Amino acid sequence: MTTSSEVFAPVKWEGDALLLLDQTRLPVETIVLTIETAEEVWAAIRHLQVRGAPAIGMAAAYGLYLGIRQLEAADAGAFRELLHQRADYLATARPTAVNLFWALDRVKARIDQEGEKPVDVLKAAVLDEALAIQREDAEVCRTIGENLLTLLNDGMGILTHCNPGALATAAYGTATAPFYLAKERGWNLKVYADETRPVLQGARLTAYELQQAGIDVTLICDNMAAMVMAQGKVQAVIVGTDRVAANGDVANKIGTYGVAVLAKAHGIPFYVAAPLSSIDLETATGAEIPIEERPAEEITHGLGKQVAPDGIQVYNPAFDVTPAAYITAIVTETGIFKPEEIGKAKP
Ligand code: MRU
Repeated sequence: MTTSSEVFAPVKWEGDALLLLDQTRLPVETIVLTIETAEEVWAAIRHLQVRGAPAIGMAAAYGLYLGIRQLEAADAGAFRELLHQRADYLATARPTAVNLFWALDRVKARIDQEGEKPVDVLKAAVLDEALAIQREDAEVCRTIGENLLTLLNDGMGILTHCNPGALATAAYGTATAPFYLAKERGWNLKVYADETRPVLQGARLTAYELQQAGIDVTLICDNMAAMVMAQGKVQAVIVGTDRVAANGDVANKIGTYGVAVLAKAHGIPFYVAAPLSSIDLETATGAEIPIEERPAEEITHGLGKQVAPDGIQVYNPAFDVTPAAYITAIVTETGIFKPEEIGKAKP
């Protein structure tokens, strides 16, 4: 793995390698990682160098190509077996964002469709499918943004949590897409970005990317959301998601549930931006969504220095589940849905 520094998209296939913007270093340093193996992709996902549900899926699809491109297989059947082994390995990188499994399954399905073609043709198809996933994600995000804009008005204040932004997707972000589109149209939206403890994706990533884009963004600590709502500064909340269950429960970055409860208490609509790749109709309710627990150091040393006593017990779930009852609507590329009707979103 090599590094270089330049301003860059979060995930990019260039020449023969996968380039990832190291999101653990933003906003202070812009470091691009040149990734050449599936193992490096696995580690980049696990350690949040690439993060955010759609970007994890994209990186995994490229990782699958990196994992099989030099393998020798006697025929299509043997190739498929190796492909599935590599996919199973990449699927262990993180548990919550369903886009990881969705992307790997999509590549496997493409290779099934290719039938008994020569192994080199199948290898090229793996890369082709990864490129297609990334290409389509940009269009999906733009459409989600257009759909969300129909729920907003010029001049609104909007709260968001974590980073559901361009840094988590091929372009625009999911929940942030209407902010970019509103700017293109000359609207003035005022965005409040929760810092999003413990890893500060809101401060380090959302505040950074929206500021870079010239969008009116104000950073607040997570525990200020209630005050901002009570002061009437926010007329809508928009968040992303890592997985939507069949009953409309939504897993997203830890703290989202609290924001949803606050929004309901203040009569503020709570919207979830969800590409179809994040909707998991095979998971019946949010209670079945696997919630990742991350290392204690993210809390005890998360701000670059020790902030808690040695040996303290720590509980660090990276995601929580917002019950459908707190969600006003889930907005996908196919339309706007009540959470309990999310099954209708998938064609
Ligand atoms: O742990 P992360 O940084 O991968 O978590 C990201 C989020 O929770 C995002 O809000 C999310 O993936 C959904 S929107 C792109």
